[in-house]
Amino acid sequence: MTVLLPRRQLLGAASGAALMLNAPVAQAAAPRFAIGETDFLLDGQPLQIRCGEMHFARVPREYWRHRLQAIKAMGMNAVCAYLFWNYHEWREGQYQWSGQRDAVEFCKLAQAEGLWVILRPGPYACAEWEMGGLPWWLLKHPGDAFLRSRDDAFVQPARRWLKEVGRVLGGQQISHGGPILMVQVENEYGFLSDDKDYLRVMRQAVLDGGFDVPLFQCNPTNAVGRTHIPELFTVANFGSDPATGFKALDALQKGPKMCGEYYSGWFDTWGAPHRRGDNTRAIQDIDAMLNAGGSFSLYMAHGGTTFGLWGGCDRPFRPDTTSYDYDAPIGEAGWVGEKFRTYRECLAKHLKPGEVLPEPPARLPVMTIPSFALTETAPVLANLPAAAIQAESPKNIEQYDISRGLVAYRVTLPAGPAGRLEAANARDLAWVFVGGRLAGTMDTRHRRFAVDIPARKADTVVEILLYTIARVNFGMEVHDRKGLQGPVMFKTKAGARELKGWEIRAVDFGADGELPPLRWQAKRPSGAAAPAFWRGSFDAATAADTFLDMSTWGQGIVWINGRCLGRYWSIGPTQTMYLPGPWIKAGRNEVVVLDLTGPRANRIEGKSLPVLDQLQPDRDLARPPSTARPRLAGLTPVFTGQFAAGPATQDVRFDAPAHGRQLCIEVLDTFDGQPHAAIAELALLGADGKPLNQTAWTIAYASSEEARKEDGSALNAINGQATDYWHTAYSGNARPVGTPRLIVDLGASADIAGIRYTPRQGPDSVTGRIRRYRVFVGDKLVDQD
Ligand code: GLA
Repeated sequence: MTVLLPRRQLLGAASGAALMLNAPVAQAAAPRFAIGETDFLLDGQPLQIRCGEMHFARVPREYWRHRLQAIKAMGMNAVCAYLFWNYHEWREGQYQWSGQRDAVEFCKLAQAEGLWVILRPGPYACAEWEMGGLPWWLLKHPGDAFLRSRDDAFVQPARRWLKEVGRVLGGQQISHGGPILMVQVENEYGFLSDDKDYLRVMRQAVLDGGFDVPLFQCNPTNAVGRTHIPELFTVANFGSDPATGFKALDALQKGPKMCGEYYSGWFDTWGAPHRRGDNTRAIQDIDAMLNAGGSFSLYMAHGGTTFGLWGGCDRPFRPDTTSYDYDAPIGEAGWVGEKFRTYRECLAKHLKPGEVLPEPPARLPVMTIPSFALTETAPVLANLPAAAIQAESPKNIEQYDISRGLVAYRVTLPAGPAGRLEAANARDLAWVFVGGRLAGTMDTRHRRFAVDIPARKADTVVEILLYTIARVNFGMEVHDRKGLQGPVMFKTKAGARELKGWEIRAVDFGADGELPPLRWQAKRPSGAAAPAFWRGSFDAATAADTFLDMSTWGQGIVWINGRCLGRYWSIGPTQTMYLPGPWIKAGRNEVVVLDLTGPRANRIEGKSLPVLDQLQPDRDLARPPSTARPRLAGLTPVFTGQFAAGPATQDVRFDAPAHGRQLCIEVLDTFDGQPHAAIAELALLGADGKPLNQTAWTIAYASSEEARKEDGSALNAINGQATDYWHTAYSGNARPVGTPRLIVDLGASADIAGIRYTPRQGPDSVTGRIRRYRVFVGDKLVDQD
């Protein structure tokens, strides 16, 4: 039976809360889906949303139905889908919606499988996706704060995008017979800013796109209040403590309680330990949310794989792995096991009368591929396009209309003594060759932009090969311009001069990792470490899923039959690449590998199991071990204080702004009395009370970091994610070494008026929440040998 509710109780998109009260009584039938005062309402009946997140761009189209069936069988009644703007508009004005990008087909499949759809079209998404889903060409416009702001340079293209989304997907709304129940505006905007008018502009853009279902916004529990506006329903994102999350929502608005992202696990970044979710806690939390009458979306129900070159990057610069398994209940290859079973059991208790759980779909076949060699090579530097850009001093690649890829920079250095070549910036990694020999590398992760150059008897060509990995997907740092950026200086004892007159050649991999024309040769390039493409093949009688073992290679990209599979990096923790069966042909299959550092063995085999948790730090680019020691003796702290108990984010203003390049937080004691410290996030506030941009930040010193039992890396304190944290070492024989201290280097001196501290999240029993502390600021707070 359909119960019609008074309009007053309904929150539809076109009517803000205030407007609703004035809505005429005599109107057309109530919308099929609405947000009531205590519940979501479907045809007038309360609906608890049990949603699972899956990104269709991260799952081979041939498997969409299989994964949707698994999500349904887990006990979900909805699927949450981001649209990544840059995936559909890599070149300005050229929209792509077919094949793997066919969002309409995805919605139709979801509907056919009995799942509602929650659409999250951005314009910003985050999601460990290149630039958080924003298109790179926006960066042709100057400025470091215009993205996700009311600046026209952002608003106009974003409006066009949302209009296009409406054109394509408007017909998929429940109001038009489709499965889309609700549409999200922006993503966790309160994490970035408090500009409510920006959200109003984006909301209007979604309405102008023709959406007429309810619109909502999401924010982490900590930030739900910052950007709440009555016109948008608010949901809270968290990975623990649903009671606090729901309470925060209650304080803001009338309406059902919903967790917009409950984390089943977490994503991995290259070089850091594999993450796992706490399954027992997740089940308890979900059970509690449903018992409280709430709704939730599981991020991720099925993570899948960030195929191609779409991986994002955490702040300050920690690129995400290609596997987006996420430790989700439906694994990267669509497998379900014990974890899935526990979710299914929990959700089965919360079905509506008459609802039946289907059986999960059968596991797809897996095969192994015997080891095969890649014996043809094409050295990168010998395969660059002939056409070159001439530049006095290199600018970011977006200025040259290069989107991403390999960029080679050539300049001539006259004869002379040894010296140091120093760029203003080099994103992301670069190999510097002098007279054809590798002199050193530049590495954004450590903000290492200088290389020692030997003495030269004659004019010598310096060639710098730069490789872009991913644009940061979080915070203001999404203004992540790539390339070698001048001025590039050459410094000797006698002085410094700028290197001018550059030739720039690029292999632009474009949207889908298009391979350039390559001249293959039958033998290995001289010097195993030369960056090169490699080619080989394997024969397949059948086509089934497999996991390519890349552990003996260095770092680069894999293509299968011309299709870009993704990036690999043998530092781990991911060592295998999921290769879906439908992308394999019966007969001969061609594999091309770009390897920048050179393989230990130029062979690949297909395994039947993934390897997601094996670090090989020895495979990383050479870097001298850190000898950093704090240098605080005799210094007066700029502030001494005491944090409030609990998980809430706290802003602290110093008595007077301090000036310096480095900031040390020294932990005097913690709430649980243990000698361990943890910090989820540490932001620094400028004179205007807003967080300083963290693009150039590094960790100058951490007294210790837990690296084995969990990822307690100090970088977690400055990556913008409240869910992970820096934790002092505790596993094995690690004993706390003296006072816990964390020293952040800002890259340049700045005025620091205060700090924004986010404690480790979770219940009050977690270790490491800081009570009393001191802060030091100075240009040099560490000594180094
Ligand atoms: C945030 C974002 C998501 C994703 C998760 C981490 O909550 O909203 O897009 O990036 O963090 O996986």
